[in-house]
Amino acid sequence: MIIRVILVNFFIWGDLQALTNLDLRGNNLSGSIPASIGNLNSLIELQLGNNKLNGTVPLMPQTLQIALNLSSNLLEGPIPGTLSKLIGLHVLDLSNKKFSGQIPDFLVQMTSLTQLVHSDNLLSGVIPKFLPFVTVDVSGNKGLISTTNSNSPSLSPKQRKTMDVGVLSFAAGSALGFVLVIGQLIIASINQSLTYPKAVSKPVNMMLKSEL
Ligand SMILES: *[C@@H]1O[C@H](CO)[C@@H](O)[C@H](O)[C@H]1NC(C)=O
Ligand SMILES: *[C@@H]1O[C@H](CO)[C@@H](O)[C@H](O)[C@H]1NC(C)=O
Ligand SMILES: *[C@@H]1O[C@H](CO)[C@@H](O)[C@H](O)[C@H]1NC(C)=O
Repeated sequence: MIIRVILVNFFIWGDLQALTNLDLRGNNLSGSIPASIGNLNSLIELQLGNNKLNGTVPLMPQTLQIALNLSSNLLEGPIPGTLSKLIGLHVLDLSNKKFSGQIPDFLVQMTSLTQLVHSDNLLSGVIPKFLPFVTVDVSGNKGLISTTNSNSPSLSPKQRKTMDVGVLSFAAGSALGFVLVIGQLIIASINQSLTYPKAVSKPVNMMLKSEL
């Protein structure tokens, strides 16, 4: 099923309750990741690698499973504690250049994780001890003290269902930056009657709508 994604100068994440895989890697997106991304409560995969996203990482949908990939952006700050809520997540890629602070212990407790990429950041402190089946890449962090093997070989990519996302246009450079409308025509036609009333009745979505 091909779902086309249209990037224009504003967006409504709140109406995308049925979106499961969002791949926006390499789209030169700038500005910060909108907090409303946390409302995408069907999302199981989020690929935002190779953009120019800055600021800190907002609360992510707890439904994420396949991957959260924030690789190669300008995000900064400590690795956010809210990631500990992603209890079903398999792959977490934070290779980024600007994350700082320690590698938090809660990552060890996230037992669904099979691959963690922390490479090329400003991380420091002692690397927590991960279970043997977790591949952890911490290369390129000068302040880290290693007690485990780093740079273990990557797992072969998991077989995955990826939505084919066609980016039709993107108006970059506004102060709002990372703003988009996604036309989910196919999903909408299937789920409109179910998801739309649910979306508007949520206070957080009503807030979003009234801002637009
Ligand atoms: C994350 O995304 C980048 C492309 O944006 C890709 O090169 C990298 O392999 C991905 N990381 C993982 C762990 O799949
Ligand atoms: C993020 O980048 C935009 C320009 O793309 C800039 O206006 C904004 O101040 C930056 N925000 C942070 C937190 O660095
Ligand atoms: C990426 O975005 C910047 C503005 O943020 C713009 O100057 C540049 O031309 C864009 N690059 C591409 C390849 O679109």
